[in-house]
Amino acid sequence: MVRVLSGIQPSGALHLGNYIGALRQWVAFQDEYDAFYCIVDLHALTLEGDPAERRDRAFEAACNLLATGLDPTRCTLFCQSHVPEHTRLTWLLECTATMGELNRMTQFKDKSRRHEAVRVGLFTYPVLMAADILLYDAGAVPVGDDQRQHLELTREVAQRFNNRYGEVFTIPEAVIPTVGARVMDLQHPERKMSKSVESPLGTVNVLDPPEQIEHKVKRAVTDTDGEMRYDPDAKPGLATLLDLMAVATGRRPQEVAQDYGRYGDLKRDLAAALVELLEPIQKRYAEFADDRGAVERVLAAGAEHAHEVAQATYARAAAAIGLLPPA
Ligand code: TYM
Repeated sequence: MVRVLSGIQPSGALHLGNYIGALRQWVAFQDEYDAFYCIVDLHALTLEGDPAERRDRAFEAACNLLATGLDPTRCTLFCQSHVPEHTRLTWLLECTATMGELNRMTQFKDKSRRHEAVRVGLFTYPVLMAADILLYDAGAVPVGDDQRQHLELTREVAQRFNNRYGEVFTIPEAVIPTVGARVMDLQHPERKMSKSVESPLGTVNVLDPPEQIEHKVKRAVTDTDGEMRYDPDAKPGLATLLDLMAVATGRRPQEVAQDYGRYGDLKRDLAAALVELLEPIQKRYAEFADDRGAVERVLAAGAEHAHEVAQATYARAAAAIGLLPPA
């Protein structure tokens, strides 16, 4: 059975971009693959955060993922920091990747522009991500479009390591959805919906109450010509709404456009569709959040299983690169 691995940062509330771009695929892949899903709390350290809040966020992310439909009997759900091989393999890969490669990463360029005193970890972030993937011999990695470049880097570094030291790593493929791979911000349709960008009105969170979802959709930026057609370049705001409606109803955005005359009607129906889509997740979230012990047990069992797999891969890589094995 092909192994799948993916990860999510617990750096803020999960939003529709995460859900549509990645989590829906995670849930679907549980039956077809040997699936490993990771709350990447080490990645979240690359930007400023309050320690107590970090812990809460990681727990909330676990509740959120379970509520979305991850089932610990069908997948391995764990916290990255609970499996020490992630940082251990990162070092071997940092001694394989080059500065030039990391300098080309557009997410680094973008995030480092927005912060002063850029942390070294933000620069080496993609190498930790490569370690996440390679430790589990993942053949497939379900992600949104924004992770495409990181996946390419992972493949290059893995190939270089294999060429130099022998066949240690499986070369992974990114699995990016055809619709919803890049969900845009409702207020700034030229940029992706994101946890870190300060655009609360443009970001629909998975746990937003119905009134907030309605408010955000109603206030979404469109255009003034009032013409209903799907044209992401010329009409990015409207295209975002049509994309979301297409995902919520399982149709194509062009078909959705044919059903509507006025933007207001589309917004009304989209808000209702999103409320319906998210309501069951919100109900289950409340149940998991109330049962902290059960969620912690899921993470503990997940880490134990992940550790077994990761240990074996790390040992293979350490031996291949020429580290003296402990006696
Ligand atoms: P993160 O935490 O930013 O996002 C988690 C997943 O959600 C997808 N995503 C989106 N998809 C569509 N539209 C959007 N607006 C949108 N925003 C986010 C992301 O593509 C991602 O799939 N570096 C990763 C986390 C990571 C990882 C890994 C992923 C660490 N190690 C190993 C895969 C494999 C990240 O920051 O995702």
